[in-house]
Amino acid sequence: MTSTDIRVVVAIDFGTTYSGFACANKINPDEIETNTRWSGREGLPKTNTALLYDANCDQVLRWGELALFQEQRRRKNQDAEQFHIIERFKLHLDNKMKQKPQLPIMFDYKKAITDYLIKMKGVIEETLERRWPGLSLKQVLFVLSVPAEWLPDTRAVLRECVFRAGFIDEDTHSNLEFITEPEAAAIHCLSVCNEHNLEENDTFLVVDCGGGTVDLTVRTLLAGNKLREVTVRTGGLCGSTFVDEEFLKFLGRKVGIKALGAFKEQAYEDLQKLIHRFFYEFEPIELDLETNCSALIPYISGELKDKLEEEDWVIDIEYDDVKNMFDPAIQTIIRLIDAQLNSVPPNKVKAMFLVGGFSESPYLTRRIKESFEDRVQTIAFPRNPIAAIVKGAVSYGLNMQVIESRIIPWTFGIE
Ligand SMILES: Nc1ncnc2c1ncn2[C@@H]1O[C@H](COP(=O)(O)OP(=O)(O)OP(=O)(O)O)[C@@H](O)[C@H]1O
Ligand SMILES: [Mg+2]
Repeated sequence: MTSTDIRVVVAIDFGTTYSGFACANKINPDEIETNTRWSGREGLPKTNTALLYDANCDQVLRWGELALFQEQRRRKNQDAEQFHIIERFKLHLDNKMKQKPQLPIMFDYKKAITDYLIKMKGVIEETLERRWPGLSLKQVLFVLSVPAEWLPDTRAVLRECVFRAGFIDEDTHSNLEFITEPEAAAIHCLSVCNEHNLEENDTFLVVDCGGGTVDLTVRTLLAGNKLREVTVRTGGLCGSTFVDEEFLKFLGRKVGIKALGAFKEQAYEDLQKLIHRFFYEFEPIELDLETNCSALIPYISGELKDKLEEEDWVIDIEYDDVKNMFDPAIQTIIRLIDAQLNSVPPNKVKAMFLVGGFSESPYLTRRIKESFEDRVQTIAFPRNPIAAIVKGAVSYGLNMQVIESRIIPWTFGIE
C-alpha cells in the first residue's frame, strides 16, 4: 500500500546501457512527460548508464553521457589511469550471467547503482521543482522497472539502493513499486492496440529488446483497457551490447587486443562512435581507420600493423562478418519468441509489438518479420520504442488496476 497523499508518479527505467525517467501528475494522467534534459545533451529520452569515478573509485566525477566524454578528461590534462569508467553494472544483478562486466577490484556494483540513482535523483528533483514547486518527495510514487526474469531478491537489492540514494526513507518505504520491463512495455502498447484493431479478449505479445536483456510477455486485452498475463514472462541476455561485444572481438582480431584495450582507455568516445556507426548500417563496411578512427592507429603494432599498412588501413567488414556478430543475439531472440508463441494455441497471438532500443535495428526487424509473419498477423514497432518502458511504468503507477492478473513465475500460480 502506498501513501494516500501521492500527487505525482515518477518512473525510472534503469537500463543496462541507457537510463531515463518520466513523470505525471495524478490530476492529469494523460500528460506523461519523458525527461529529455540531461547535462551534456538535450532531446534524448535517456542518458548513458555510465559513471566516471576518481582514481579511488570513490567520488563520481561525471555521469551519463558526460562520463564517456574523453574531451573532458583531456581538458583537465590528466591521465586515464586516474579515472575509472563504470558501465553495464546493472548486469551484476542478473543471476544467470556467468561472466559479468568487469569492475575495478573491491568495487561493489551496488555502490555504482546507488551513485547513479543519486545523480538521477538530482535531475528528477530539478524537474519536479520546475513543474510542481514545493512538492515533497514524500508525495511521489516511484516506479522502477526490472527485467522479467530477475529473481525477487534483486528487488530487495534495488530497494536498498533506492533507499540509500534518498528517494524513500523509513516512513515512505511504500512509495516504491516495481514493475517488470515487459509489463511496462505492454501497458505502453495498450495505447496502440486500437490502431491495430485489437479488441477485447485479443492477445498480443510484447518484446522489449534492450541493451542487456530482451524481455517478453503475452497479454490479453480485457474490458476497460485492462491486461491479463497469459504465459510466464521470459527473457534472455541477448540485448544489443552482446552485438557490440562481438564487434569488438572482431576488431580486436584485426588490430590486436592490446591496441583495442589502449584505444578504449584513451579514446573511449571515439570507440563508442565507431560502435554506433557500425550499428546503424547493417551492411558490409569498408572501415577506413585513417578517416574513421585515426586515434587507434598509433596503438597497432607488429604483423597486424604491417598487414593493415599494406591494406591502406582499411578493414573490410563483409556481410557475413556483420551477420555473425548479430546472429547469436538474434537467434536467441527468435527462440524466445518461438517459445512464447508455442505456449499458447496457434493463432491466439494476434499482434506482436517490439520496443526497446535494439528494436530499431533494421536487421532485427527483418529477421523477426521473416521468421514470424506466417504466425502473427501484425508485427509492429510502435513509436518511441526507447521511451516505451518508462512511459508504461508511469501509467502503471497512475493506475495499478490496469493489471488484472499476473502469472507468478516462481510458483506458476496466478496473482
Ligand atoms: N538503430 C539501432 N540499431 C541497433 N541498436 C540500436 C539502435 N538504436 C539503439 N540501439 C541500441 O539500443 C540500446 C538501448 O536500448 P534500451 O535503452 O532499450 O536498452 P537498455 O534499457 O539500456 O537495456 P536493458 O533494458 O536491457 O537493461 C543501445 O545499447 C543501442 O545499442
Ligand atoms: Mg531497457
